[in-house]
Amino acid sequence: MTFPALFIHGDAPRVRIRTISHDELPGEGDTLVRVEWSGINYKDALAVTGEGPIIRGTLPFIPGIDLCGEILETTAGEWRTGDCVLQTGWGLGETEWGAYSGVQRVNARHLVRLPVGLSSKHAMIAGTAGFTAVLAAMAIEEAGVGPDAGDIVVTGASGGVGTFAIMALAHAGYRVVASSGSKANRGYLKSLGAYRVMDREVLETGAVRPLDSGHWAGAVDSVGGKTLEALLSQTARHGCVASCGLVGGEGFASTVFPFILRGVRLQGIDSNTCPNLVRRKVWKRIAALTSVYDFDSLAEQVAFGGIEAACQRILTGGHTGRTIVSPAETSTPGG
Ligand SMILES: NC(=O)c1ccc[n+]([C@@H]2O[C@H](COP(=O)([O-])OP(=O)(O)OC[C@H]3O[C@@H](n4cnc5c(N)ncnc54)[C@H](OP(=O)(O)O)[C@@H]3O)[C@@H](O)[C@H]2O)c1
Repeated sequence: MTFPALFIHGDAPRVRIRTISHDELPGEGDTLVRVEWSGINYKDALAVTGEGPIIRGTLPFIPGIDLCGEILETTAGEWRTGDCVLQTGWGLGETEWGAYSGVQRVNARHLVRLPVGLSSKHAMIAGTAGFTAVLAAMAIEEAGVGPDAGDIVVTGASGGVGTFAIMALAHAGYRVVASSGSKANRGYLKSLGAYRVMDREVLETGAVRPLDSGHWAGAVDSVGGKTLEALLSQTARHGCVASCGLVGGEGFASTVFPFILRGVRLQGIDSNTCPNLVRRKVWKRIAALTSVYDFDSLAEQVAFGGIEAACQRILTGGHTGRTIVSPAETSTPGG
């Protein structure tokens, strides 16, 4: 059995696509999956371009942190040939060869069964980004912040996490404010369910004082840095800020005042090692979103030849929604 795979090399050209056989797939995984769809996340963009130290395996290495497809063979008792499964995270595309391969060897304990009502394409349109967004929405709910508590702000709104956070929160009845650097995307963000769009510069300047007016009942933050500083100072009593990302910076300064005078909760979100029990709940919620939203309209589709350029677009900020990858196609317009 042969199939195409995208490799990262230590010398130029960094990205090379070649045909390999399943015998060349390393690892101790007990399950072989035919990859139907994958996606490109911010982490994948860092890995493919080399802009961030994501790959921790030996080069040449296959990146890609999300895959969805069909089991070709397995020795794991609970699975059968033909089962439709997905894997996001658990080191896929970081420590283990990843999703940008027609077939991949994985560990069955990291797989989630594709829920009823969710196609493999739609699962990858959500991908790690959508999964993370739903985890963040669930963190806000679990903090006791209900839809009547006030506005929830979503930062980095046009991106993958932002797009799905708006959808998940609006679908659950929250009033969502989108914070975005893109004027062109205002209509897009409102169509997802945001009732107001604000310029990201408002939060980017950071906290004006340790405790500012409590504008937000909660926040889903993909930006970090000064934006997170501002969010903590502007979150109302017993609100919850779900910290997901760092596109605007990894460091931030704060005081204890939001925590001890307002009971604000800063909740970290880690999609990579999220337990499988929680994963199954999240994927069911993602499946439910497909009956309300047109997932196909949220994603651009590329073949392996288009991955590198798509990753560069993500890192330069000119990116809206999601990008998915089809190993079945060998070329793409402009790819
Ligand atoms: N915790 C986890 O498990 C987890 C999982 C997935 C992703 N993440 C992290 O979440 C973040 C977002 O991921 P993503 O997949 O949504 O990325 P993405 O699709 O590239 O979206 C990021 C969005 O942030 C905004 N943005 C871009 N550059 C910015 C800057 N310099 N300052 C402020 N805003 C900026 C843009 O939206 P606007 O144009 O609307 O402003 C952009 O669309 C990344 O840091 C990623 O590593 C974490």
